[in-house]
Amino acid sequence: MAPLAIHHPFPYLHPVTARAPWIDGHGRVMRDLRVSVTDRCNFRCLYCLPETEEAAQFYRTKFAPISTSGLSTTLREPIWKPRSEILSFDEIERIVRLAVEHGIEKIRVTGGEPMLRRGLVDLIARLSAIPGVRDLAMTTNGFYFGDKAEALRQAGLQRISFSLDSLDPSNFKRMTGRDGLADVLSSIEKAQACGFAPVKVNAVVIRGLNDHEIPDLARFARSHRLTFRYIEFMPLDSGHVWQRDLVVPGREILSRLQSEFDLVPISNATNPSETARRWSFADGVGEIGIIAPVTEPFCGHCNRLRITADGKIRTCLFSVVEHDLKAWMRGGADDTELAAGMRRVVLGKELGHRIGKADFTQPARSMSCIGG
Ligand code: 5AD
Ligand code: SF4
Repeated sequence: MAPLAIHHPFPYLHPVTARAPWIDGHGRVMRDLRVSVTDRCNFRCLYCLPETEEAAQFYRTKFAPISTSGLSTTLREPIWKPRSEILSFDEIERIVRLAVEHGIEKIRVTGGEPMLRRGLVDLIARLSAIPGVRDLAMTTNGFYFGDKAEALRQAGLQRISFSLDSLDPSNFKRMTGRDGLADVLSSIEKAQACGFAPVKVNAVVIRGLNDHEIPDLARFARSHRLTFRYIEFMPLDSGHVWQRDLVVPGREILSRLQSEFDLVPISNATNPSETARRWSFADGVGEIGIIAPVTEPFCGHCNRLRITADGKIRTCLFSVVEHDLKAWMRGGADDTELAAGMRRVVLGKELGHRIGKADFTQPARSMSCIGG
């Protein structure tokens, strides 16, 4: 992949603070920060399966293998990080404030499952009050979202994404480890009822598990006016059992959809860092997107940074190096030092992931620790 041209010939001046933005070594201006607020999760998605790496070896032998067609892995009981290692609300707020002062515009709160973080509504209120946060979004598995939908909306949450991999209760359970389809569907309805628009829904597609549901999911998205995303299965599972042949390539997802629906492409010209290739339906009802990080990497325009629940900066989902922001903060660094540290880290942001290359190494941590 050729290095990109610098997007902004002059340092971009943030309207709030006019501090120079964080720009990586390939000229990409960081605009999007994903903050994981907990490593905990009440689901055990096959493609994620939270664990702590430290205890993984110890627990490996203790749990029964789950076998599904073409997939065999070992289920381990996750060990969560102790509370003292998780960033406090003050620390999260400080990071977000610093980030928006340096050009970040979009904040996405993730987990684990963010709804498991006590006081989440207060945190959302604190983040939405920071001047310069133009877009405040959250990703949830939806199980506990319904009861708090209205409070989160009132607190300033602007956008919400759900994970929904199956519309069949038993397949849902097979994929998420939890009998939760009805709860998630009801949360999606509540989100719409209290004004989140559009509501986004993500499905990770795994061959032999839910690929037969691709058209049904699209029909569901249309009938419920959802913005739907199909996501290729990425090697970010804690069991490290990802295999290429479990990935349903974006092209195949598309052709399966095209055999049933008349799709019209939507241009990403106004937002080159958009991860999904998008289509509307010819009759104007509904929108679907396909996120194909494995077979059609979109790293070239990536402007995302991630903070893990335990306060590490990751410059890529697939980074094998993390930087200990929490240690700097708890060691007494002032804002100038923190910002300088962030700038240094951003400079080293990877050009792209190396899935499929001979030197690819799967990150030790799963998506539940990193944060989608
Ligand atoms: N591959 C692709 N997507 C994943 N997610 C979690 N793990 C994986 C994986 N291995 C997605 C889920 C969830 C979001 C947080 O990340 O769809 O919605
Ligand atoms: Fe939990 Fe999300 Fe991971 Fe599923 S993908 S186990 S809901 S963190």
